[in-house]
Amino acid sequence: MLKRVIDYGHELLKVTIKPGETVIDGTCGNGKDTVMLSKLVGVDGSVLAFDIQEQAIANTRKILEKQAISNVTLIQDSHHKIDNYLNERIEKQLGGAIFNLGYLPGSDKKIITKPDSTITAIKTIANYLKPGGIIVLVVYHGHLGGDEEKEALLKHLGEYDQKQFNVLRYGFINQKNSPPFVLAIEKK
Ligand SMILES: C[S@@+](CC[C@H](N)C(=O)[O-])C[C@H]1O[C@@H](n2cnc3c(N)ncnc32)[C@H](O)[C@@H]1O
Repeated sequence: MLKRVIDYGHELLKVTIKPGETVIDGTCGNGKDTVMLSKLVGVDGSVLAFDIQEQAIANTRKILEKQAISNVTLIQDSHHKIDNYLNERIEKQLGGAIFNLGYLPGSDKKIITKPDSTITAIKTIANYLKPGGIIVLVVYHGHLGGDEEKEALLKHLGEYDQKQFNVLRYGFINQKNSPPFVLAIEKK
């Protein structure tokens, strides 16, 4: 059976992230991806979870506390500044990352991920990514501003050197209303 896009994205991370690694949730939102990453890296690993919105950080904190998860650092800041946080750490290699793009469900639809900051974050993570590591982007683009981000990402990632990266697109082409799709960047 064909996997839903989000499940496909998670599957890619499940087979590449190892216990003990440091990984990134670039847009923690309501915390679902953060919890998934936390389980993959286990007690010896670490998740850095970013979001610019106080509400998102609070929602994620709540879900982490409920599940007694303690290997996550919540960071209320833009993911384009990831480098500042990685520079402070001793271990510099990342096991993987996920970004759910768009707006926080049930919140202000005007607060959205933007092409420039998303691309800066991807470039930074790609530098730190382990060989074989994957960055998953779940691209929601049905909202105002979403198309612009989608086009910028396709252009940017389409130019990645195939000797260094594999870049994949996974999505359904017969669904209505701008269905989301996955972009996955694998470092060779
Ligand atoms: C689609 S939601 C994420 C959903 C989340 N992954 C989940 O499982 O619930 C997108 C999130 O990106 C956040 N965001 C927007 N711009 C950002 C930025 N520059 N840095 C970090 N987070 C950002 C929004 O506040 C919003 O919470």
